[in-house]
Amino acid sequence: MTETIKLMKAHKSVRRFKEQVIPQEDLTEILTAAQMASSWKNFQSYSVIVVRSQEKKDALYELVPQEAIRQSAVFLLFVGDLNRAEKGAQLHTDTFQPQGVEGLLISSVDAALAGQNALLAAESLGYGGVIIGLVRYKSEEVSELFNLPDYTYPVFGMALGLPNEEHEVKPRLPLNQVVFEEEYQEQTVDVIEAYDRVQADYAGARATTSWSQRLAEQFGQAEPSSTRKNLEQKKLL
Ligand SMILES: Cc1cc2nc3c(=O)[nH]c(=O)nc-3n(C[C@H](O)[C@H](O)[C@H](O)COP(=O)(O)O)c2cc1C
Repeated sequence: MTETIKLMKAHKSVRRFKEQVIPQEDLTEILTAAQMASSWKNFQSYSVIVVRSQEKKDALYELVPQEAIRQSAVFLLFVGDLNRAEKGAQLHTDTFQPQGVEGLLISSVDAALAGQNALLAAESLGYGGVIIGLVRYKSEEVSELFNLPDYTYPVFGMALGLPNEEHEVKPRLPLNQVVFEEEYQEQTVDVIEAYDRVQADYAGARATTSWSQRLAEQFGQAEPSSTRKNLEQKKLL
């Protein structure tokens, strides 16, 4: 096994941090590694906002009460960004039509790949972190807090710092239930129930709801309105 694969397999989200800063040179390494992720047509359709000030972290925490945000040494906001695309396109055409699913997939996938690179780079330096997708449920307020212009939107945040918690790596679904040979294999419900039990064993006393209950909570109701409203305001839908 390579050191890289070992690092990837040891990943666990960290939500509690020590009171210790991340030096600028480490952060620059993390962000430079993030930038080297592949992107659709090399458009690099994302931006990252680095939040170091406690005031801003606290202001974000007021909107999105996740303890990792205010404890983080650095909080990174990954922004889906077609604002630069508009400026580039304008050099050649008067029409700019980023609205729709493709623009969102392009920018969200680019942001996600950069984000995963950042997290792994941070972990390789001894830091820990967690992705905070819940920023999307307050998209409009978060956009305002960070002064996001047209054609941009928050995709997720990332809290980073020196870990102040210990726990086991979270077990994944069995490989053969997510990786198929040659064609898709639809799964039966017993696969879900088996993984519910794996997750319950892993979580132990910390378990409040089962894995499939969380699926029901997420997908058993219409999506929260803030994400769509914000995307409409930013001219992306
Ligand atoms: C897109 C995305 C959004 C996430 N949002 C949150 C979040 O808002 N709060 C949180 O505590 N964890 C969040 N997570 C972390 C996941 O809960 C975590 O990655 C998952 O449970 C697997 O655990 P592990 O990362 O420790 O292996 C998010 C992860 C992803 C990929």
